[in-house]
Order: sequence, then structure tokens, then C-alpha cells
Amino acid sequence: MSRRILLKFGGNALSDKEDMNRFAQDVHTISESSFTPVIVHGGGPEISAEMEKRGMKALKVAGLRVTDLKALQVAEEVLKLLNSDIVQVFQKAGCSIQGMSAEGIIIATKKPPVLSDGSEVDLGYVGDVASVNSQKLESVLLSSKIPVIYPICTDSSGVKLNVNADTVASGVAKAAGASEMVLVTDVPGILNDGKRIPSLTLAEVDKLIDSKVITGGMLPKVEACRTALLNGVDTVYMLNGKEPHSLARRLLDGEDCGTSITVE
Ligand SMILES: Nc1ncnc2c1ncn2[C@@H]1O[C@H](COP(=O)(O)OP(=O)(O)O)[C@@H](O)[C@H]1O
Ligand SMILES: [Mg+2]
Repeated sequence: MSRRILLKFGGNALSDKEDMNRFAQDVHTISESSFTPVIVHGGGPEISAEMEKRGMKALKVAGLRVTDLKALQVAEEVLKLLNSDIVQVFQKAGCSIQGMSAEGIIIATKKPPVLSDGSEVDLGYVGDVASVNSQKLESVLLSSKIPVIYPICTDSSGVKLNVNADTVASGVAKAAGASEMVLVTDVPGILNDGKRIPSLTLAEVDKLIDSKVITGGMLPKVEACRTALLNGVDTVYMLNGKEPHSLARRLLDGEDCGTSITVE
């Protein structure tokens, strides 16, 4: 029986062409083995770079991008382009792949203001996952294609929202009924004092949040882990995209790399 696995990677993790090629090869390898992959990607650094090029300020609060209408347009433009580049890389690695946005898979809702240094900040066109719809995903999977999804979503009335790619990953994992989720990033796993933590439970994650060991972009990541684990995913792996073939080594060889997170 093939297991569905949600793979998410961020812009920093696979910015190097060779890292990206190796990742695509691993995705092909695992898809020939016992896994059916569903992929979500982000594009944080690319969006920030394009905003700055256009004279806009790229600002993040609690690891999330402050997104006015202009920033939303830049995010969508950049993510769409990235998505088509990514599709080509996967095709070269032998994958049958379908690029798409998260619209229609994730129904988003505007995120309420977040607390930062004691004051409330309205993030603008930033969403949370309200509900998921598996229909679109199932029809792609039925045609034996790997969906590769960028995180622009719509709310129930069709308003576009920028949603953190880790958050989208947890929603898509639910829609796909994934049994595993892998978040590929640019660090060797969750670190404490610079040292990799091999495995964590959600209660241990909470302690690391409270003690401010987990901050910034790692915060939406661990919240996505929590959501995925509470929605049917058995294990989440956090892996370093810059360690060659970390995906195949972890999933197929059972190598102890990255951080694995379970409910308990
Ligand atoms: N305890 C921690 N362990 C590892 N990384 C952490 C931790 N706390 C904060 N981070 C930061 O989170 C970053 C990953 O999040 P982010 O930059 O959003 O990456 P991505 O593009 O993969 O989503 C790391 O590069 C690191 O700077
Ligand atoms: Mg991030």
C-alpha cells in the first residue's frame, strides 16, 4: 500500500540548484517506492527580494509576512513563476507533476491581528486555514501526477490571501489524508544551543516555545506540525534541504537526521 506523504520546502532550503535537483531526484525515488507525494512550496526569500527591488519594505511579524494589497500581488506573481520553474526541475528528474495554487484546496480566512511586543499587529491579506476540500487534489492524484502547490489561497468569497507555506502544508496534508509530513528547511532540524534535537513530542515543543528556543520562522513550522499531527499525520520530519539526499536517507534508509515530531 502506498502511503501519502506531504512534502514542503521553503525558498532558503533549496535555493542552490544542485540541492533542488537532488531533492527532485529523491521525490522521484520515493514515489517509485512506497510513497505518494504531495508537495507544497514557499518562496519567502524570493518574495522579499522582489519587494525590495520594487522599493517596498518586506516585514515579518511572528514569522509571518505583513501583506498589503501590493505585497499580495508581488507574492502571487513570484510564487506563480517559482512554481513553473519547480515543475520543470521535477519533470527533468522524471516526475509526472502538476503545478497549481492552493485555491480551492484550502479555504482560508483572514488571520486576526497577532500580538507582537505587547501590541496587536494587523497582518493584512494573510490567512489561516478555515477548511479544506480534497476534490481538486484527488483528481490530480487519480491521474498519477504529483501535485506541487504554491500557497496563495482564497477565502469563502474568493478574496485572495497569502498563507504561510507551512500552514498550507498542514491543511493540504489533511486534505490528502497524508500519514507523514516532511518540512524541508535550511537548518539541520530543531536546534537547542546549536545542537540538533533528534525527536520531540508536542509537549516538549511547547516548552521550547515558552523558553524562546523556538522563534521566528520556526514558530509557524511547529504550529503546522501540531495541526498536522492532530489531523491524522503520524509523524512530521523536519529535514535540512542542504544535506544531500536527506529525504531519501531519512525515509528509505531510516537514517537519524533532522527532527521527528510526534504527538507523544
Ligand atoms: N530552535 C530553532 N531551531 C532551528 N531553527 C530555528 C529555531 N528557532 C528559530 N529558527 C529559525 O527558523 C528558520 C526556518 O524558518 P524559515 O526561515 O521560515 O524557513 P522556511 O523558508 O523553510 O519556511 C531557521 O532558519 C532559523 O533561523
Ligand atoms: Mg517559513
